[in-house]
Amino acid sequence: MLKKILALAGLLMMCGAAGAQRDMALEAGLAKTPPMGWNSWNHFAGKVTEQDVKDAADALVSSGMRDAGYVYVNIDDTWEGERDAQGVLHTNKKFPDMKALGDYIHARGLKFGIYSSPGPLTCARFAASYGHEQQDADLYASWGVDYLKYDLCSYGILMQAAVADHPDDPDIGNKMMKAAYLKMRTALDKTGRPIVFSLCQYGDDDVWKWGPDVGGNLWRTTGDIQDNYDRMAKIGFGQAGLAKYAGPGHWNDPDMLEVGNGHMTADEYRTHMSLWALLAAPLLAGNDLSKMTPETKSILMNKAVIAIDQDALGVQGDRVSQSGDLEVWSKPLSGGGVAVGLFNRGTSAAPMTLKLSDVGVKHAAHVSSLWEGANPVVANDEVSASVPAHGVVLLRVEP
Ligand code: GLA
Repeated sequence: MLKKILALAGLLMMCGAAGAQRDMALEAGLAKTPPMGWNSWNHFAGKVTEQDVKDAADALVSSGMRDAGYVYVNIDDTWEGERDAQGVLHTNKKFPDMKALGDYIHARGLKFGIYSSPGPLTCARFAASYGHEQQDADLYASWGVDYLKYDLCSYGILMQAAVADHPDDPDIGNKMMKAAYLKMRTALDKTGRPIVFSLCQYGDDDVWKWGPDVGGNLWRTTGDIQDNYDRMAKIGFGQAGLAKYAGPGHWNDPDMLEVGNGHMTADEYRTHMSLWALLAAPLLAGNDLSKMTPETKSILMNKAVIAIDQDALGVQGDRVSQSGDLEVWSKPLSGGGVAVGLFNRGTSAAPMTLKLSDVGVKHAAHVSSLWEGANPVVANDEVSASVPAHGVVLLRVEP
């Protein structure tokens, strides 16, 4: 086993050295703005079926979400079956015909995403790509896949084993991890199909510092989100300081949206959506799109909020100030404007006042409030508002 792991590590490191030869041209133009779409995991998890994915594709069209920018239909873990004697991976019986499903998705003007791991098994213990990277990349391309989420999972066990066997090289695990991601990026490029590459390894080893070097178009910065305010807020507000690592083609990913899954209040979901927009985060809805309340739709499809996320300048926002439960975050926009979020993490409504000069605006020509119901008052280059419990007042300020 040890010999096998060493051979593997050596091989993967060689791939790393060949990294400069990656076909960068293929990646050009991918994920110029943070990817938007839907992913099956947060709501359906291991139960997702072909029909659920078709229903999601249909709902993206009929709800107007596709036209608002949500184009990726991403199947997460549990679609995988067994490999045959030639090593070709087959789907399990929940997904009888992946090529036909890809066609179904594409016929609706949408894009098709899939999921695997660099380890032998995915996180849900289904077959993954270890030792079959090119074969899998070719298979995805033959199905018309446009997006791959590549989730570390069981590869971590190989990394730990190598670290235990190499006390002289404590970084060996991290080197293996980078090489494994680069190996799949290289395999994807070789297919000739432009495929967005989503790294998922929970933010280990400051992935934001090396994600672009292994061809990642986005990388998870944290462990998994859950549909509750505390977890969402811990992740979202925990993104402070990461802005400089994001930009067109390479984004920080604080995980998928929980909007509409039912365990947060409307104010909490508006906080979630606003914060993700200010963070220029990927907007991957994680709810059952075939059963959305008007309130869920109004949050996911607020065009002014989506425009903050998708702004062409491609600069991630950051925290401007924090005082107890109250935080101000801002994001520079193309054309010289700025988006500002006044967040109240406390459990009762609180007044907040923003001096526009604190977010770099001297004289505000125009301040608009992006969620209905908030009534900020603008006077003397200051904006004042009552911010609901766990809520937000989101502003767009144009100079
Ligand atoms: C990990 C990822 C999740 C999801 C599951 C699937 O936990 O972080 O987003 O993909 O695996 O098993």
